[in-house]
Amino acid sequence: MSQRTIGVVGAGTMGQGIAQVLVASGLPVQLYDVADEQLGRAQAAIDKGLGKLVAKEKLGEAEKGEAMARLELTTSLEALRGCEVIIEAAPEQPALKEKLFRDLSRLSHDAILASNTSSLSLTRLAAVCERPERVVGMHFFNPVPVLKLVEVIRAEQTSDATVARIEALARQLGKTPVAIADSPGFAVNRLLVPMINEAAFLLQEGAASAEDIDQSMKLGAAHPMGPLALADLIGLDVCLAIMEVLQEGFGDPKYRPCPLLRRMVAAGYLGRKTGRGFHIYE
Ligand code: CAA
Repeated sequence: MSQRTIGVVGAGTMGQGIAQVLVASGLPVQLYDVADEQLGRAQAAIDKGLGKLVAKEKLGEAEKGEAMARLELTTSLEALRGCEVIIEAAPEQPALKEKLFRDLSRLSHDAILASNTSSLSLTRLAAVCERPERVVGMHFFNPVPVLKLVEVIRAEQTSDATVARIEALARQLGKTPVAIADSPGFAVNRLLVPMINEAAFLLQEGAASAEDIDQSMKLGAAHPMGPLALADLIGLDVCLAIMEVLQEGFGDPKYRPCPLLRRMVAAGYLGRKTGRGFHIYE
């Protein structure tokens, strides 16, 4: 393994996007997931994503081949031993992430452990690690290859050197890092998800149709997509989890999740990933 190899834990939508920008930026990647089938899907998605860049002549066919050759897939966490930086993008389940961080901190004593969590406390994750000063948030946005921001979240224990290393890595990927303290929802989700929740209230009240709510924010506020379509992209379960984190973290009733959002999650209408959310997908 090259010294520059970056570990990515979790080959879902975010892990795929993160691995894609890493290999496209010249960095070797070990992509870990528990399921072989998920790794296969991730490889295909990354190949397709890089193919879009070739089609736009932003990347040559040979460069695409080189980028794909930098991607290694593994179902063994052991394969990440020796990585200088490991970026975790596993499902948003506190117990699962805490176990992963505990295991990773034992496996790779010197590694920087960065979490792409959209809602969990980095301070709590750092607390289960052997070297908490090397734990940090590195929060990407979906679709990762397109959106330029990375929130760099500092746990109470994170050292300046760790923050500096992750900011440098973000820049190397062509992203713009912003530094933010470990507070509920960080910056983007604290602003974005209450807007989505309010759009769900509008819909619940019958004040406007889903199409018109989305059209309003696209044409009236120049958002690239409306809040309900965005909720479908993010996942309604993720939006609900973020509202719950905001409500619990601040104890303020203004963050109460919309009952319609709760019902849709209970029904399994989670957005694009299930083919149905506020809109229907094929
Ligand atoms: N790899 C490389 N390039 C890609 C790509 C991929 N996987 N996917 C899309 N692209 C490129 C396209 O090729 C296209 O490139 P050009 O501009 O050069 O033509 C560009 O990205 C736009 O893609 P599309 O033309 O397919 O689609 P679009 O113009 O309709 O834009 C969108 C789609 C990028 C999703 C846009 O609507 C958008 O930015 N929406 C807002 C998304 C947003 O707010 N995300 C944040 C969610 S919050 C979050 O992620 C955090 C959290 O914790 C929940």
